[in-house]
Amino acid sequence: MNSSEIREDFLRFFEGKGHTRVASAPVVLPDDPTLLFTNAGMNPFKDVFLGQGSRDYTRAVDTQKCIRVSGKHNDLEEVGVSERHHTFFEMLGNWSFGDYFKREAIGWAWELLTTTWGLPKERIWGTVFEGNEADGLPPDEEAEALWGETTDLPASRIVRLPAEDVFWEMGNTGPCGPSSELHIYLGDDPAQATAEQLRAGHSDFLELWNLVFIQFNRDDSGSLHPLPSRHIDTGMGFERICSVIQNVPSNFDIDLFQPLLAAISDVSRKPYDDASRVAFRVIADHIRALTFAIADGVVPSNEGRGYVLRRILRRASRFGRNLDIHEPFIYRLTETVASQMGDVFPEVRERADYVARVIRSEEEGFGKTLDRGLELFEQVSSGGRVSGADAFQLYDTFGFPIDLTQLMAAERGIEVDLDAFQAEMDIQQTRSREAGKSVFASSESAYVVSGDHSEFIGYDTLEADAKVVSVRSTDDGQELVLDATPFYSESGGQVGDHGVIQSNG
Ligand code: SER
Repeated sequence: MNSSEIREDFLRFFEGKGHTRVASAPVVLPDDPTLLFTNAGMNPFKDVFLGQGSRDYTRAVDTQKCIRVSGKHNDLEEVGVSERHHTFFEMLGNWSFGDYFKREAIGWAWELLTTTWGLPKERIWGTVFEGNEADGLPPDEEAEALWGETTDLPASRIVRLPAEDVFWEMGNTGPCGPSSELHIYLGDDPAQATAEQLRAGHSDFLELWNLVFIQFNRDDSGSLHPLPSRHIDTGMGFERICSVIQNVPSNFDIDLFQPLLAAISDVSRKPYDDASRVAFRVIADHIRALTFAIADGVVPSNEGRGYVLRRILRRASRFGRNLDIHEPFIYRLTETVASQMGDVFPEVRERADYVARVIRSEEEGFGKTLDRGLELFEQVSSGGRVSGADAFQLYDTFGFPIDLTQLMAAERGIEVDLDAFQAEMDIQQTRSREAGKSVFASSESAYVVSGDHSEFIGYDTLEADAKVVSVRSTDDGQELVLDATPFYSESGGQVGDHGVIQSNG
């Protein structure tokens, strides 16, 4: 079965159970400033879970575009090394908004995996929440009993796990609840699989599906409050389930990645083999994250989510050097992502040219300093440790994000002096704050005339010459209105850009 059929199977299965098929939300949710990127299928439904919003359906099914590169859910370091992790992935989910609860969620998950897809029952394991003292929660005996009642899973294959594994939270605050997962044992002999192995995260076990029983909201002080209704949030990594159904050893071996790996082979004129494997996988992963994020309106920059994109892109550029690619090349892969994913996510097809332009200009920018930075890294890493000052020079002069320097250091088994690097960063920030003050101090005060308007040019450029149209004193300092600006201001809750305004003198 190919990946399109698997995705469609999932969506149809739940449509058959009364669910409305809904489109994926963007990877940036304008109304949720607590998130840099959509990191789980439930993010767009947070308002419904909290009882603050509603939909005209109580059951939904979707495949949600997710990016996990920051905060509580961050898989960036795993990509390429792990067979199973991505910065960008699709999460298949079925949802109940105050409608069905644990019984149906568990029963249908079992039915889809073992009947529709025919996965071997004897290899499937279930997990339930063991309870925890910190929140005063008891073990989830209800879920445990329901596994017995609604599936053929023997009690010996239902394992209690601690909160860190099976109490799901999207961040430090927000809707949350105990969960119950389905794992598959991929070792040679299912009779040899044990609960201890599953608990210890043995590599023969693969988590397939997370069924979250959303019941609480965690507030800023860390306390849990019961929600007005109980909900179901399930999430299954699409690329992962494809790897299991297609019986291939890694997510990167599924059909979905083959056109991309072939395209990377084309641009690098290298085969996909043991020597090139990590670089190919990182690049294939990163171009997907870049394409989807830029198509949803993020641009690489020096702050916030824009900087996350910049870091991803620079990592991909550097892995291109590992394949001896010295020209901009990542942008050329956009087309492959667009043509492959455009049926399900039309935005990547519609915005493919724009995405390619943004990536190309960013690649060209970094390409100017990358080789010299790599030379510097060679020199400074020969001593067995990269000093804070050297890491800072790589960052400040050559545009190497610190995690790229750390990655290159880790490849050689050496460390970066992060404390000293941070100290250098702090000095630089103090310096630019001081410089900023003198610019503002020399500006004349004025009032913003109603109707003052800045042309937003941030989709095309991140730097520009501009005129100060007016200046206004506020309690926090002063506000400038520029005639044109690449800074994206807050509207509707997202975090505004940060950056630097310099004037002559
Ligand atoms: N929210 C859960 C997860 O992300 C299930 O969708 O794993």
